Amino acid sequence: MHTESNIAGKIVVITGASSGLGEATARHLAERGATVVLGARRFERLQALVDEITRAGGQAFALATDVTDPAQVQALVDAAVAHYGRVDVILNNAGIMPHSPLERRKIDDWNRTIDINIKGVLYGIAAALSHMQRQKAGHIINVSSVAGHKVGKNNAVYAATKTAVRVLTEGLRQEIKPWNLRTTIISPGAVATELPNSVTEADVAKGIGAFYQEYAISAESFARAVAFAIGQPEDVDINEILFRPTRQEL
Ligand SMILES: NC(=O)c1ccc[n+]([C@@H]2O[C@H](COP(=O)([O-])OP(=O)(O)OC[C@H]3O[C@@H](n4cnc5c(N)ncnc54)[C@H](OP(=O)(O)O)[C@@H]3O)[C@@H](O)[C@H]2O)c1
Repeated sequence: MHTESNIAGKIVVITGASSGLGEATARHLAERGATVVLGARRFERLQALVDEITRAGGQAFALATDVTDPAQVQALVDAAVAHYGRVDVILNNAGIMPHSPLERRKIDDWNRTIDINIKGVLYGIAAALSHMQRQKAGHIINVSSVAGHKVGKNNAVYAATKTAVRVLTEGLRQEIKPWNLRTTIISPGAVATELPNSVTEADVAKGIGAFYQEYAISAESFARAVAFAIGQPEDVDINEILFRPTRQEL
């Protein structure tokens, strides 16, 4: 176990921990001595990860959580506090990416994207904030994207949600100074996860699949960025990390 940085002993809540970036980060932080509290809808996958982390000597706990329901997100954070006495970090990571051209009017996809990628993040902030204000310590990490910096064809709604995450996080950063809280926006480029599976249009999915096949890097890249932000001394606030595969031009 690595315990050299400011990670060991922290209680870290992760939404969207059943696959991809959340799963890799749970493993990475648990190996560095954090206790991870995992939320997502697919509970059996969370439980398998908890078992794996526990077998390796780490500490983890899981609760089935749909981030579109503020009560479920509150229950996840409250469970962390009930079990471990505090919440040091929340990683608002759950997200979907059902790209399509606007003219196809995929209104259900638009609504789900907004509900999960924006409202889900807000519910995570709401759930953690009162505990962190009481503690006068804490760290809120929100996942944006390269798409939060650049919009293109087919990704307008997704890019809008990821831009919203950046804007909300910067506003939050300024508001929570009185409680000594930290905020980080992490904006990845293409990383190999299950995210392209959320595309519902076959032709668009084909293009994204090929792009990810060619360019995507390992989810460990994201986990290391999260660990870097958390691992800084408490008086250092890493506000934003933007990273891409070295070969990704977009
Ligand atoms: N991979 C990339 O290239 C990339 C690039 C930039 C940004 N991102 C962002 O990174 C985040 C993680 O995505 P990923 O790449 O790791 O994709 P992923 O492998 O598909 O993981 C997405 C996670 O979100 C969870 N989730 C989806 N809807 C949810 C809901 N309603 N309630 C709770 N959890 C929900 C999923 O769990 P359940 O289905 O079990 O609920 C899953 O654990 C997303 O915000 C994504 O936009 C990814």
